[in-house]
Amino acid sequence: MTTFEERILTPPAPRLLRSPGVYRPQYDTWLLAEAVAATGIPAGGRVLDVCTGTGALAITAAMLGAGEVTAVDVSRRAVLSARLNAWLNGRRIRARRGSMLALPATASFDVILANPPYVPCPPGTVTRGRRRAWDAGVDGRALLDPICRSMPLLLRPQGFLLLVHSVLSGVDTSLRQLRGCGLNADVVLRGRIPFGPVLSGRTVFLEREGLIAAGQRHEDLVVIRADRP
Ligand SMILES: C[S@@+](CC[C@H](N)C(=O)[O-])C[C@H]1O[C@@H](n2cnc3c(N)ncnc32)[C@H](O)[C@@H]1O
Repeated sequence: MTTFEERILTPPAPRLLRSPGVYRPQYDTWLLAEAVAATGIPAGGRVLDVCTGTGALAITAAMLGAGEVTAVDVSRRAVLSARLNAWLNGRRIRARRGSMLALPATASFDVILANPPYVPCPPGTVTRGRRRAWDAGVDGRALLDPICRSMPLLLRPQGFLLLVHSVLSGVDTSLRQLRGCGLNADVVLRGRIPFGPVLSGRTVFLEREGLIAAGQRHEDLVVIRADRP
């Protein structure tokens, strides 16, 4: 039997444009896309992509056979980019502007995808504009806690969540919260990347908080899969 990592992890590559200020799809996006491709989307299934940005993951899900894809982002420019990109790739998605924190708690989706903001930031950091794509409070969990506690309510039976975030923002906490909501949750994929400009500018804070070892300049990302029985 092949392990998750041994499967062919070649997600489709949608053509993507983006308005200024919209998150540029990068390693975390593609790690989650690999997990989506390896897991598969139930044919005709209903998919929700929270924090959609360019719509990269929503469109990937549509390319992999989703029946209906809803994409949500708090940024107007992101929603416009997601709509444009869906059109460019000949896919239908419903892109809606709004906070994922305000989604109705009805069990409507077979698959939920989330690449939310998860970067820990020093106390007093003012988060606005494009920083809303990554800044997530001192512990990096401003969006992760609500996702782990409320997304399980939006999953249909046998539905699953795929969530990507950094180990700097508490993998055990995510797993505990998801399991506490009755889901079977585990890490299914990992990746390591050198610090980009955001984390490179926060090394003093991260070392002081004990989130990284002295001199550490890489971070590990994980994809968590959580299944509703
Ligand atoms: C790390 S980016 C990920 C974008 C895209 N999913 C990707 O993987 O390339 C996070 C996105 O979350 C959006 N966002 C931040 N807070 C949000 C909220 N409360 N509700 C919905 N979207 C939010 C940001 O605008 C940004 O587009």
